[in-house]
Amino acid sequence: MRIVISAGPTREAIDPVRFITNRSTGKMGYAIAEAARQRQWQVTLVSGPVNLPPPEGVEVIAVESAAEMAQAMKNAAATADMIIMAAAVADYRPKQYSSSKVKKSDGDLCIELERTEDILLTLGKNKKPGQLLVGFAAETDDLLQNAQSKLERKNLDFIAANIVGVPGRGFASENNAITLLGRNGSCRELALQSKSSLADELLDAIIAGSSGE
Ligand code: CTP
Repeated sequence: MRIVISAGPTREAIDPVRFITNRSTGKMGYAIAEAARQRQWQVTLVSGPVNLPPPEGVEVIAVESAAEMAQAMKNAAATADMIIMAAAVADYRPKQYSSSKVKKSDGDLCIELERTEDILLTLGKNKKPGQLLVGFAAETDDLLQNAQSKLERKNLDFIAANIVGVPGRGFASENNAITLLGRNGSCRELALQSKSSLADELLDAIIAGSSGE
């Protein structure tokens, strides 16, 4: 089994000293990489900037921006049996990058943003026969409806829906809980637990769900 996992945030540069990013710490994606390695799978981890040690026995590809992550994921996807997009990819980046530091002035500053590529959407369009594609949906509201629509729109096999904005789970937390929706209509609750045991349950649930158990 060859699995490719993305993890962490992306950074979208404004100038040489500033960037736009988000609160992702990469813990969920790294935990999935570790759980996959323990199963003797061949693991590639495409990681945005995080403060985590690289898991042993895993190929780590370090990226910064959404564009770099897109390139790395597309390359790695070509030979992957399973792809899990756990990264919190920026949806927008500054339209103009300033190669010299932006200096302040008295007035307000507007930074125009443009859309980044939706990596998961691209991977879904180019999915190979037999390849399993799994996304994450981090939502503050209407969790299952939003997750279901992402599952369909991006041609995913599974989506791991998780509530964010609640203390003690999700972003930047040690623990998490997931509702795993499958393209065949399956719905499995993975209870609140450490991200490492949740990662293991998640892989079990994907394997069981995809073999029709
Ligand atoms: N994703 C991606 N490329 C992006 C943005 C997100 O591959 N440019 C992936 C994430 O890794 C995650 C899933 O898409 O697996 C999240 O779905 P998405 O609809 O993009 O969620 P949000 O970015 O939170 O979008 P919205 O603001 O519409 O909820």
